[in-house]
Amino acid sequence: MTVRAAAPAGHRRGTGGAPRAGRHGRGGTGPRGPWGATIHAVTPIQLILDVDTGIDDAMALLYACASPEADLVAVTCVGGNIDAAQVATNTLAVLELAGRAEVEVALGREQPLVRPLQVTPETHGPRGLGYAELRSPARPLSDRHAVDLLIAEARRRPGAITLVTLGPLTNLAVAVLREPELPRLLDRWVLMGGAYRSPGNTAPTTEWNIHVDPDAAKVAFTAWGASAERHGHPRPTALGLDVTERAKITPEHVVALARRAGSTPDDLLALARGEDPGQATQSMASNPMVRFIADALRFYMEFHSRFDGFYGAFIHDPLAVAAALDPRLVRTEALTVDVELGGTLTTGETVTDWRRAWGRPPNLDVAVEADAAAFLDRFVERVGGLAATRRG
Ligand code: BDR
Ligand code: CA
Repeated sequence: MTVRAAAPAGHRRGTGGAPRAGRHGRGGTGPRGPWGATIHAVTPIQLILDVDTGIDDAMALLYACASPEADLVAVTCVGGNIDAAQVATNTLAVLELAGRAEVEVALGREQPLVRPLQVTPETHGPRGLGYAELRSPARPLSDRHAVDLLIAEARRRPGAITLVTLGPLTNLAVAVLREPELPRLLDRWVLMGGAYRSPGNTAPTTEWNIHVDPDAAKVAFTAWGASAERHGHPRPTALGLDVTERAKITPEHVVALARRAGSTPDDLLALARGEDPGQATQSMASNPMVRFIADALRFYMEFHSRFDGFYGAFIHDPLAVAAALDPRLVRTEALTVDVELGGTLTTGETVTDWRRAWGRPPNLDVAVEADAAAFLDRFVERVGGLAATRRG
């Protein structure tokens, strides 16, 4: 599928505000991004990921580690798929597996702003990584709180950081309440969250990340919208279920990734044996990263085969990272979105003004199309390539 870059939405009206070292605009020529801006791969994109690791968060971490254009500055953790302490342990362990033990990992908010935390072990497994078993991480967490880290790094490199949030927006909401300049101190904010023209995956109209902390989503969407309107910086790019449910990974992709990693025919057989629901819970593949991916995704695929009618899995979070690194993967529309907080059935719904009935300025660039095939090819190629360097 060919995805058009969205027409310039006319929202970069001003240049006022904090100096902006980022926006990928240094030297050379390159492809066109969704704002008509030229994208250059020359300068690495400084990434902070905010995660609730989680199987697809783990895949997103691996994708970021495998992407040559990404400079992974830090990872911040939030309670969501699993409790925040386990999220932090999982995140450290996944980064160690990828050979990236130097990346700072900070623990953040353990509870949503005002509601009790809900977790989802049925989706991600009792410890958040499906059937995978990873060594306990050898190093400690950062001594900075995630919210302090986000604010400090944004202030230290104004306009340079691309923040990608892959979980509930609790850390970000607290950060922007404490530092209202945060939206313009960052280069961009890309999020996985929401269901804009799509049914929900948690309640009929709600997507998990927004559902867990709708109050935080409301705070963040409002703050970014107001700041983008006032200062003319990009609106957040939101990848909801509308596009992330097109990123369906299948056992064939896992086998292709294993091949790319240099797996032997025996390894591939071992992977295939693990495909049977209820069979061996651990793959015997010899490459530790391939084993991890197969064991984590098998759990996720079994979940999807029970609830979504196919043996495979939506890898929401890696698509968001991929789109942050290459905006050509999605086409976006500038829209006004609000979050339902007082519904009897719909709390957490991302209510989207498709017909501009509210007459309010748009606050999100919502992804409405994605080149899922190109993304999946890239996921296999990059993560398989990284795994090839991490033979056990
Ligand atoms: C989102 O919810 C979580 O379970 C996934 O990690 C993803 O971030 C999809 O709705
Ligand atoms: Ca997530």
